Amino acid sequence: MSTIRIEDIAHVRYAAPDLSKMRAFLEDFGLDCFAADGRLYGRGSDGRPFVHVTEPGEARFLALGLRAETLADLETLAASEGVPVEDLAEPGGGKIVRLTDPDGYGVEVVAGQAKGEPSRLPADLPVNTASAKPRLRQTVRLAPRPAHVKRIGHAVLKVRDFRTSEQWYKDRFGFITSDEVEAAANVPLGAFMRCDRGDKPADHHTLFLAQLPGPLGILHAAFEVTNLDDLMLGHQHLKSQKRQPAWGVGRHIMGSQIFDYWKDPFGNELEHWTDGDLFTAADPPQKQPMSALLAVQWGSPHPMFAGKLPPPPGLVSFFMTLRLRVLGLFRSKPKETAA
Ligand SMILES: [Fe+2]
Repeated sequence: MSTIRIEDIAHVRYAAPDLSKMRAFLEDFGLDCFAADGRLYGRGSDGRPFVHVTEPGEARFLALGLRAETLADLETLAASEGVPVEDLAEPGGGKIVRLTDPDGYGVEVVAGQAKGEPSRLPADLPVNTASAKPRLRQTVRLAPRPAHVKRIGHAVLKVRDFRTSEQWYKDRFGFITSDEVEAAANVPLGAFMRCDRGDKPADHHTLFLAQLPGPLGILHAAFEVTNLDDLMLGHQHLKSQKRQPAWGVGRHIMGSQIFDYWKDPFGNELEHWTDGDLFTAADPPQKQPMSALLAVQWGSPHPMFAGKLPPPPGLVSFFMTLRLRVLGLFRSKPKETAA
């Protein structure tokens, strides 16, 4: 049993040398931005005080924020880790426990933050399909605009040793595996993990830990937008502002989301998504081949497959080494001959 169960991801924290440049991008991306105490904050429409933080400094990823269910959970976690529960001196207040994961990433577990009134999202229009026509005497007229980010949904971290990191996050926060990704049979590369919310449905993944070659870092953070129209309007807007696209639009296999990835001015990747899978704690984990990770059900192929992005340094040798190791596992031992 884990020390506590986290409720959801709370925020991602970065450092960047130019907060106004970051703000301009985040506003194009659809976050509601404000400055406080020298930091830049981005919030969604869900009433949470912030989902994205940028501090002044050399561009880098600083921390993953997770939300505990109660303040009592924070006390339990802090006692188990031998660290204090501190006041969270940021918008929304509350309390925080600061930890460091096996790869040195900051993990900020928060609780008791003030929650404001959610702001209104664009309405979901009825959709006419071949089998059902609920929209009658009503047109579709969409004005150009950035997407509406409702909330943060997940983050993807590169790790040095998947099993070590998996254990660390599961032991403390009660994550459940939705899909474990294998490079070959029984050679895990990472896992999409969701929150244990009992009978309450949870996103297919809140955290994906991936053991991949190259330097450590956050691969992306993902934000839920209103619906497909909103995501596509957001895509058009980011394109019109000459922002750097990374991958999309398409529909993922694991998690099933419709996705759209963009890079901020400092090279961090952020994702818009909509229409993802939900599971309860009772749903069993699945295993998936590596090929399902970057493949799409429809839409843009991953830039690496489309030849627009070279494989990252070390990837080819990594998979060659892995292949040799896997082949070694199945190589039959020479039979001993009787003397
Ligand atoms: Fe994602």
